[in-house]
Amino acid sequence: MDPWITIDSTTVPGSDTELTLSQRNDDFAIRISGVPGDLMNSRMHHSEEALAELACSRLSTIENARILVGGLGMGFTLAAVLKTVPESAEVIVAELVPAVVEWNQGVLGQCAGRPIEDGRTRVQLGDVVDLLKHQAEKFDAILLDIDNGPEAMTSSDNEWLYSTGGLKKIYEKLRPEGIVAIWSARADQIFTTRLKKAGFIVELRTVRARPGKGSRHTIFLGQRPWGASAR
Ligand SMILES: C[S@@+](CC[C@H](N)C(=O)[O-])C[C@H]1O[C@@H](n2cnc3c(N)ncnc32)[C@H](O)[C@@H]1O
Repeated sequence: MDPWITIDSTTVPGSDTELTLSQRNDDFAIRISGVPGDLMNSRMHHSEEALAELACSRLSTIENARILVGGLGMGFTLAAVLKTVPESAEVIVAELVPAVVEWNQGVLGQCAGRPIEDGRTRVQLGDVVDLLKHQAEKFDAILLDIDNGPEAMTSSDNEWLYSTGGLKKIYEKLRPEGIVAIWSARADQIFTTRLKKAGFIVELRTVRARPGKGSRHTIFLGQRPWGASAR
């Protein structure tokens, strides 16, 4: 089998963590230094797409929907959002690592069909945590796939997002009936309870890494009830 070749590496802003892009024939992998396995692999993206489909299916007929995607990665989630929502939608993608955006503008972009070039996409370079704290406008869906689950991996600052305070902020930033969807490598009872405490109607879905096979991943779905006030 051909070996993986490192194409580029970069440092995650505000940390010593190194992110590497590697290629083997038509396959790509993004890896974090010192962490076993891949942060993202171009051969397995079924659950990343399911994240988008589960969160956005109700938006297929809603005009001017606003969607926030946290973490560009290889763009599979973004591409699946764009397939689901109408032409009038605006999809904001927050990506912490500038090199990830550059990789998607180059060779990596071919994996998901170059979704950052879609007219509905707005790439916002920076931390999704800052965007949530400082953006005034609300969203119909907030999709997070920035770690391996509700615990910080890429950046220690991500920890806040999964805390009660972070979840309450997400709740505040959703329009009525808006949905937060969080990708995770596994289910987590404590986190499920925390989502409920923040006010969400919660559902967990299990999705395979590839259609009908591969690891089982969890998508946490939390819906802000119609007419509910912020907690
Ligand atoms: C697992 S990948 C996302 C995979 C993506 N769902 C896909 O379909 O390819 C995680 C991405 O989140 C980014 N990221 C991590 N923490 C972030 C943060 N706080 N704000 C924005 N992006 C972040 C990483 O740099 C990486 O590009």
